[in-house]
Amino acid sequence: MTHESQPGAIRSGDEVRRMFGRITRRYDLMNRLMTGGRDVAWRRRSVRAAIGGHALGTARVLDVATGTGDLALALARGGSGEVVGVDFSPEMLAAAAGKSTAADAGDEASRHPTPAWVLADALRLPFPDSAFDACTVAFGLRNMPDYRAALAEMGRVIRPGGRLVCLELTPLRQPVVGGLFGWYFAHVVPLVGGLLSGDRDAYRYLPQSVDAFPDAATLAELMRAAGFEQATWKKLGGGTVALHVAVKGRG
Ligand SMILES: C[S@@+](CC[C@H](N)C(=O)[O-])C[C@H]1O[C@@H](n2cnc3c(N)ncnc32)[C@H](O)[C@@H]1O
Repeated sequence: MTHESQPGAIRSGDEVRRMFGRITRRYDLMNRLMTGGRDVAWRRRSVRAAIGGHALGTARVLDVATGTGDLALALARGGSGEVVGVDFSPEMLAAAAGKSTAADAGDEASRHPTPAWVLADALRLPFPDSAFDACTVAFGLRNMPDYRAALAEMGRVIRPGGRLVCLELTPLRQPVVGGLFGWYFAHVVPLVGGLLSGDRDAYRYLPQSVDAFPDAATLAELMRAAGFEQATWKKLGGGTVALHVAVKGRG
């Protein structure tokens, strides 16, 4: 299925929310295992893309689909002035809040802002227009029911000239590498994910949702159509992940 026939996630918002609620406990562990720990470096790179160029401690950043909060916490530790993490899964958000409480207890963390955790749908963000200097979304957009509407809503809350940073799995269409990766993704990930999280279905959905997601060039087009300029991307993880950076137009 392509984005022409399916401009959004292959499952409904309710199904997606319940699914993440079920796999919260093992979510971070599965991320580390599936990516060989590379996801941590990709999030660090996303932080630089979002707040690079801002004076230390000044950028206001919204992390949409924050999940267990890893990117929001990396943004806070990476020099943002204010960080808000939004997710519509109460379980995922509770895990994020638990991590930041634990971090607050340490000495080092007290020098960084503590993210605010907000339970909300990415398609109806409870913030005024232009409230943020940057918006990040990591492995979240693919799960949203309407990509165009989600991009437009993120664009609404970013100030003109501010950045959207989107880290997301991207379809790998090269025959040999894509075939090997496809096999790993379609067979190994659901098996291991099923054993660890007790929810094989969630890790079957993962490769299916990537297959149905727009490729990197098409996603950049969608960003431009939603009012962003200079939508560029870099492939990471051997071409399995795309990091898009787009700037909200001033017009
Ligand atoms: C794969 S996780 C990504 C979590 C985190 N950003 C990360 O990098 O690990 C996807 C998250 O998106 C959230 N999500 C999906 N659709 C959403 C929506 N419409 N509004 C808010 N959150 C959403 C899910 O609840 C889940 O926590």
